[in-house]
Order: sequence, then C-alpha cells, then structure tokens
Amino acid sequence: MQPRTRRLSVYIFSASLLACLVYLRRETKSGVLSATKKPQGPKQKWTFSVPRQVEPSKCLPNLTAANASASLPELHRLFLTYKHCRNFSAVLKPSACEADTFLLLAIKSAPVNIDRRLTIRNTWGKETLIGGKRVRLLFLLGHSEVRVQDHSLHQLLIYESLEFDDVLQWDFADNFFNLTLKELHFLRWLTQDCPQARFVLKGDDDVFVNTYNIVEFLKDLDPEKDLFVGDVISKARPIRHTKAKYFIPESMYPAAFYPLYAGGGGYVMSQLTAQRLRAVAEDTELFPIDDVFVGMCLAKIGMAPVHHPGFKTFGIQRPFNPFDPCLYKELMIIHKLNPTELWVMWTLLKADGLRCATSGSWKL
Ligand SMILES: *[C@@H]1O[C@H](CO)[C@@H](O)[C@H](O)[C@H]1NC(C)=O
Ligand SMILES: *[C@@H]1O[C@H](CO)[C@@H](O)[C@H](O)[C@H]1NC(C)=O
Ligand SMILES: *[C@@H]1O[C@H](CO)[C@@H](O)[C@H](O)[C@H]1NC(C)=O
Ligand SMILES: *[C@@H]1O[C@H](CO)[C@@H](O)[C@H](O)[C@H]1NC(C)=O
Repeated sequence: MQPRTRRLSVYIFSASLLACLVYLRRETKSGVLSATKKPQGPKQKWTFSVPRQVEPSKCLPNLTAANASASLPELHRLFLTYKHCRNFSAVLKPSACEADTFLLLAIKSAPVNIDRRLTIRNTWGKETLIGGKRVRLLFLLGHSEVRVQDHSLHQLLIYESLEFDDVLQWDFADNFFNLTLKELHFLRWLTQDCPQARFVLKGDDDVFVNTYNIVEFLKDLDPEKDLFVGDVISKARPIRHTKAKYFIPESMYPAAFYPLYAGGGGYVMSQLTAQRLRAVAEDTELFPIDDVFVGMCLAKIGMAPVHHPGFKTFGIQRPFNPFDPCLYKELMIIHKLNPTELWVMWTLLKADGLRCATSGSWKL
C-alpha cells in the first residue's frame, strides 16, 4: 500500500472504531436500539446518532413544478422541484442543552468549512460562561458530497461531532438555496432539544461576534417577551436579473418589496419569538433566501424586527481597522471576515487596555 493510502485506511478504521464504541456505550446506557428515532421518554444525556443507520430521507420530485420552471436557472428549478420536501432526518446530533442555557450560538456552516468552525471554537465561540451566563455553541450543517484529500468529509464530521459535541447535521444538500431548510430544521431541533435556551443568536460562520456585548445587551431582557434584533433592511427589492446570486423571478415572488427582515449574517431572538417562529414556519412555503423567509414568518406573527447599529451584516467598509479600539464598543456582529481577521479581533478584544475614548450608548 502507498503510505498515503495506508494512513487513510488507518484513519477511516479509527473513525469507524470510535463510532462503534460510542454506539455501544450509548446502547449500554440507554438500552434503546433505534438510533434514528428519538426516544420519547426522559431526555438522554448522550444522543449521538450513528450515521450509517440513518435512512436517507425520501421525497419524490414534483415533475409538474419541474416542467413549469424549465426556463429558470438550474438552482431555481431544483428548488421548485423539491420545495415540498420539508422533512429530513438528522445525521449528526449534539446532546440536548443544559437547563440553564442562557444564549445559544447557532451558526450555519457548510461541511467543507472546517477551518472556520475551528477558528470560531477557538475565538468568540470558546467561552461557555460569560458573566455567569451559560453560552452554548452549535453548528448547523447540511450534507455534502465534497471529498477532502480523497475521502469523505463525513468521516471528519463524525470526528468533529465526537470531539466537540457541537455538530447538528441533516441529510439535505448543503447549498445556498437549501438554507431555509436549515432554518426550519433548526427551529424544530430547538423546540425539541433546547427549549430552555433564553436567547438564540443565529449567524453565519464568517462573522465575528462580540459575545460579551451580546450577553451584556441581553442580560436584563425577558426571554418570555418577543425580541428580534439585527441588521434590519426595509423595502428591499427582489433582484430580477437572471445572473444574480439572489435572482428571484416574479413567478416566485410577485410583490415589489420584501417584508422587513434582518440580515442572515447574524441576529438575536428570544425564546418566545423562536417558539412562535417555529410554529409559523411550519405553515409557510419555503423561500430560497433564508433571511427573507424569516422576515415573512415575522410578518405573519405581526412582529417587526428591530434594527441595532451594532449588527453589521451587510458588510463593512473596507479597509477596516481591527486595531481601532472603538470598533469593539457596542459592536455585536460583523459579517464577512476570514479566520485570520476573526482571530486578530478576538485577541485584541481579550487584550487588556482596549480603550475607546468616545462614548455612546444604545438602548432598546
Ligand atoms: C414534463 O415534461 C415531459 C417532457 O416534456 C413530459 O413527458 C412529462 O409528461 C411532463 N410531466 C408532467 C408532470 O407534466
Ligand atoms: C407541484 O407543483 C405544482 C406547480 O408548481 C403545484 O401546483 C402542485 O401543488 C405541486 N404538487 C405538490 C405535491 O407539491
Ligand atoms: C412532514 O412531517 C409533518 C409531521 O412531522 C407532516 O405533518 C407533514 O405532512 C410532512 N411533510 C411531508 C412533505 O412529508
Ligand atoms: C435541497 O436538498 C434536497 C435534499 O438533499 C435536494 O433534493 C434538493 O435538490 C436541494 N435543493 C436545492 C435547491 O439544491
């Protein structure tokens, strides 16, 4: 065998062995065999599902929709052909939340973004206790056919899941147009396995989150009242150029404007709002742009998302200076940063002596 092939086999063998061990451990502990269905009884501490046993979710294409959308770009056509498929199984699942979870950081990530997840775990996603409040990090993933150094990403994800217990993955394809499925499935998981979380921050894996400011902002707010805060955009128009990434034809959304919505790069909501969103999302047709979809659900509830200048999800002016201490004051989230920038910002934020002369304050 080639050394590389041998290393690979050893790796795959160890990964399988580890998975088997975990499975055995789980079985001995719970006496429950089914790994795909969640037991209805009392919550188990360890709920790692063994991927091999999950049957792929079956849902047939809607050929009428496929035919009717023949003139649209391929992704749009795919979306419309499978829009009715809304029930997918979890492939990897983390343990349920602790009862005292204050803030859940739910970060959308594509399976291939291993470096971004590692950076987040080592920077702003690292603290589990901030000002005495429990913070939990979680990554939301779909499924990917991408291979890394000639073997399936899935083996690596199993490893990540075992090592960090922060991977929640479903068996729908992880792509831009399926982000709404991620939203819906996340809300379902939240209701089932993390209903205690007082607040939820939903974001992308290329954001910097000033978790200290977020906790400071939320600590005196009531999770049982409605709250939805982010970078809110009003009167956004659907883009009608076929070539654009966010292209939406009239046939999919005839109105001239989208409802108020917060940029999907990062927003915060209360427990109550998350529960209400979940209920409404179940009865809402999927829309390919996930943050607009959430805006549609909020509109159905009759809630307006609140704008906060500390959430900068529609990009920042470049060049930007991470060494400017005033950047961090009242900053909640900045979108579209690379792992190096995240690391630099975290290091500076943690450093003593970060002082900004100007003051100002923002109140809800
Ligand atoms: C879709 O179009 C194909 C080819 O034009 C046709 O054979 C098929 O019957 C159509 N299916 C539906 C459900 O309209
Ligand atoms: C299939 O698509 C057509 C046209 O978009 C729609 O009218 C019909 O309700 C869809 N059927 C299902 C089962 O979703
Ligand atoms: C998805 O599951 C829900 C119940 O969990 C069910 O009511 C609904 O019909 C299912 N939808 C599809 C398309 O299978
Ligand atoms: C979303 O995921 C499902 C399941 O993997 C897939 O059938 C569908 O084509 C995906 N949608 C898009 C727009 O890629």
